Amino acid sequence: MTRMAQRADPSTSAGFRALCDDLGLCFGGDYNPEQWPRSVWNDDVELMVRAGVNLVTVGVFSWAAIEPSPGERAFGWLDDVLDLLHRNGIAVDLATPTASPPPWLGHLHPETLPVDADGVRLVAGSRNQFSPASAVYRSHALAIARDLAERYADHPAVRMWHVGNEYGQLDHGDEAAREFRGWLKRRYGTIERLNDVWGTTVWSQAYRSFDEILPPRRTPYLVNPAQSLDFRRYTSDQLLLCYTEQRDAIRATGARQPITTNFMGFFPHVDYWSWSDEVDVVADDEYPDPASEHAAADIALVQDLMRSLGHGRPWMLMEQTIGAVSWREHNLPKTSGAARLGVLQAVAHGADGVAFFQWRQSHSGAERFHSAMVPHAGADTEVFRGVERLGADLRRLKPVVGHSVEASVGILFGWPSWWAGEEPARPTGRLRTLEQVQRWYRELWRRGVAADVVRPGAELDVYRVVLVPHSYLIEPDTAAALHRAVAAGTRVVIGPFSGVADRNGRILQGRSPVLLHELIGASGEEWTALPEGPTLLQVDEAWDVGAPVAATASVFAERLRSDGAEVLAMFGDGALAGHPAVTRHRFAGGRVWYLGAIVSDALLSAVIDDALQDAGVENALGEAVLPGRPLPVGLEAVRRGSALFLLNHGSEAAQVTLPATMHDLLTNSEVGRAVAVQPGAAMVLIEGLTQ
Ligand code: GAL
Repeated sequence: MTRMAQRADPSTSAGFRALCDDLGLCFGGDYNPEQWPRSVWNDDVELMVRAGVNLVTVGVFSWAAIEPSPGERAFGWLDDVLDLLHRNGIAVDLATPTASPPPWLGHLHPETLPVDADGVRLVAGSRNQFSPASAVYRSHALAIARDLAERYADHPAVRMWHVGNEYGQLDHGDEAAREFRGWLKRRYGTIERLNDVWGTTVWSQAYRSFDEILPPRRTPYLVNPAQSLDFRRYTSDQLLLCYTEQRDAIRATGARQPITTNFMGFFPHVDYWSWSDEVDVVADDEYPDPASEHAAADIALVQDLMRSLGHGRPWMLMEQTIGAVSWREHNLPKTSGAARLGVLQAVAHGADGVAFFQWRQSHSGAERFHSAMVPHAGADTEVFRGVERLGADLRRLKPVVGHSVEASVGILFGWPSWWAGEEPARPTGRLRTLEQVQRWYRELWRRGVAADVVRPGAELDVYRVVLVPHSYLIEPDTAAALHRAVAAGTRVVIGPFSGVADRNGRILQGRSPVLLHELIGASGEEWTALPEGPTLLQVDEAWDVGAPVAATASVFAERLRSDGAEVLAMFGDGALAGHPAVTRHRFAGGRVWYLGAIVSDALLSAVIDDALQDAGVENALGEAVLPGRPLPVGLEAVRRGSALFLLNHGSEAAQVTLPATMHDLLTNSEVGRAVAVQPGAAMVLIEGLTQ
């Protein structure tokens, strides 16, 4: 099969920058004209122009419309759509329609259909019915991608390519088994090596040859966690191959536009660190749940991940919803105010484009109740008027195009660690990696402190503070980077159950965390679930954290001892009474905090305050971070380039003192140093009007 071909082309990565220099912030949505008679298309384009839409994604689900029968090509309607959009000044992000093959493909070639872990072959009638391992699927997908690119590479409307949609399919079928075995052979070379790494002496699992290995299908009892971890790695790589081979086919036609596909935030089945250098612009689909009290902070984390995946470069919010989605059990709508805040928030965190799913609400199909920019009721609606206002807002924000967000804090996150850390049969199933990352990030968010998400193995000394909320796998390169960073003065805070296992999930032998305990100045000997309810911790009175802290632990803890670290909090009762729960240790020029338990929000907050203050970190307003002094509740403050975004997600007016009098790009007016940001309101402030 095709090798992993060339990486994203740097000259085309610059293509997204050029596009935004030209169009300003991109604004638009998924446009599915094949669902509508031609009479509607003119209306669509007129409304797009009215709303200031300048980029639409066309063709994501149009395979059957382009290839009604095998090998046939029906491009006429697409020619007309692209010409119409171009005549009206609307650029196109043209999609390869390969996420949803027509029913004929599965009918003629059942092996193209995916198989689940129970051996059930999934069928057509929905979407995503393809096996990423299927040679027949891949050759059909490549053919249509190539033909599209040959026809439209030089079409003046086409300014970006969008390969497939939300890659994330799982497949446990026979072709997946074949590809998985090939992947394992390339990784391990010999079956003896694989047996060693997988620990197959346990439960008599030794394989005689690669041919005996299967994807982790339904088994009588727990699957070998190393097998499962490798299958996840293989799945991510196999999907990436589906993307890169289409990308390369497009590029081979001479197309020069940036090429991308849409990510899905912290999506569990794809390691985006291994994907991100393969796309010319990072693009993401974001559907925060309006019912979640943490929605604003949690999506900010996703947006910081997207910026970080692209090495700080502007990214694109490819899909979001204007109102309600239709795929949750109970679909609370976004208010138009929340939709506006969401858009501005993405721009604040580095997006140079925001688009919605979808332009016109479908009259049929599974998404008939999913909101859209033009609802069933038409343009004479609150929703569409909100869309017009968004277009106007985004035009005013052109000065931020191309600028990045500078972060002095990094948060370590890697997919294999997430995968290995959540395999079944651990001390507790209640310690969830992403939940911990989100909790820690919220502490930064409510202080207005910017953060990058950092890939394992990256240099860390560029940050004043590095947070490691829960990194079950810490490889030697990451451990070395942590040591170097701390030696250079970085403050590091490490959460429980980190550095437990090697890259294959094998538990490291010795006092834990084996590769880090010198850095931490403390070490552990046992991991343990805690009884229901909070376990009391005693905070050291000499630790100056501003105010008394409600210090408890729950769910999970480690039996720690200090090997020189200060003990900031210790267990007050239970089986661990007298053992440290939180430690702090000076190491060369820096300091390291270690949390040997899942601690209460108040204690976590105090630890993070301590580290931020110790490192001299400032918030987006340029103020030093001081213990117990977060921003007003619900206020988000982000600095992008010289623009200060103030977004009030809360329900009370937020009083803010600005570093200087400033100019609000959204209202084109001057504001004094004392401002009140009303609930649901936003300001994008710059000093002076020189840009
Ligand atoms: C995305 C998908 C879109 C649409 C949307 C609905 O996952 O890419 O095609 O289905 O969800 O929220």
